[in-house]
Amino acid sequence: MKKTVLVSGGAGFIGSHVTVELIEAGYEVVVADNFSNCDDTCFEGVKKITGREDLPLVKMDFCDRNAVGKLFKDYHIDAVIHFAAFKAVGESVADPLKYYTNNLQSFLNVLDVAREQGGCNVLFSSSATVYGEPEKLPVTEQSPRQAATSPYGNTKQMCEDFLRDCVAAYPGVRGIALRYFNPIGAHPSALIGELPRGVPNNLVPFITQTAIGKRACLSIFGNDYPTPDGTCQRDYIDIVDLAKAHVCAVARMLDGKMEEPYEIFNIGTGRPVSVLELVNAFEKVNNLKLNYKFAPRRPGDVTAIWADPSLANEKLGWKAERTVEETLAAAWAWERRLK
Ligand code: WQD
Repeated sequence: MKKTVLVSGGAGFIGSHVTVELIEAGYEVVVADNFSNCDDTCFEGVKKITGREDLPLVKMDFCDRNAVGKLFKDYHIDAVIHFAAFKAVGESVADPLKYYTNNLQSFLNVLDVAREQGGCNVLFSSSATVYGEPEKLPVTEQSPRQAATSPYGNTKQMCEDFLRDCVAAYPGVRGIALRYFNPIGAHPSALIGELPRGVPNNLVPFITQTAIGKRACLSIFGNDYPTPDGTCQRDYIDIVDLAKAHVCAVARMLDGKMEEPYEIFNIGTGRPVSVLELVNAFEKVNNLKLNYKFAPRRPGDVTAIWADPSLANEKLGWKAERTVEETLAAAWAWERRLK
């Protein structure tokens, strides 16, 4: 029988790509979302890509404990991937209670239901933000976590700890935290992708919106960093590659392959790319010129961070495959489709 995976926040950017890959790998998926930060564009795209017009969608808020309990009664859930959360760093500084209430309560409810039903496989969507400004590069899963610089980052650290402690305490609860580096790009079909509301905070949506004329000019935040070209370095990971890592992690849990009941994996390419390199690659692969200027550093940005993904390569049997050029071409195809 097909195993069923619940994807909370499954109508969002990462959740929709993961849903596609899970279905293509033969899993049954239940998508749950409260549509607080997206419309149904990606959910409709997922149905088109997979041909699954009947894909179950539950409109609900994970902060509602009763609703989460009911969901687990209505469906036999073999594993849950928890994406449902707010994700804007700046907004979390301005309104920390919004972030603490939503991001923590929703995950606590998932864990409480997992406990109540005597166990579940829980995959938590964490972030490289937990490493802060690393002392040594690349970062491994053993690199120390640093004090979070935003409430958003703090919620990622706290949720990792919730999962670790619940796995230790409640029989049958197992967990994997995936620490994503910088997810970018879109599905090659251009039917699903990132849909930022308002002015994008993240680099790639700002680049594509500038290229299409929605924004006048990209500001590159800082060109005086101690890096080869003076701009920050990140580990940009293709969204489809990232989604496939989730399928590998779910399979590891469901096939009884975990070596510890709580495991952490870095999901990145292992390849540092500077802002300027990314901009140049975007221009080249899409054969256009981008209007950009150098601007002061953005407060809170780390100079450089990239992953050592060897643990995920080895234990999950997963590896990032797409080149940054392929990814940037997909991001541009998605932006043009939105026009
Ligand atoms: C990348 C680089 C900027 C915009 C953040 C969160 C993290 C994660 C992903 C979210 C940096 C530069 C950006 C612009 C620029 N989680 N930049 N001009 O900051 O690495 O990570 O998003 O859900 O937790 O912190 O990603 O895309 O914002 O920035 O020069 O207009 O691009 O300075 O060096 P970041 P980003």
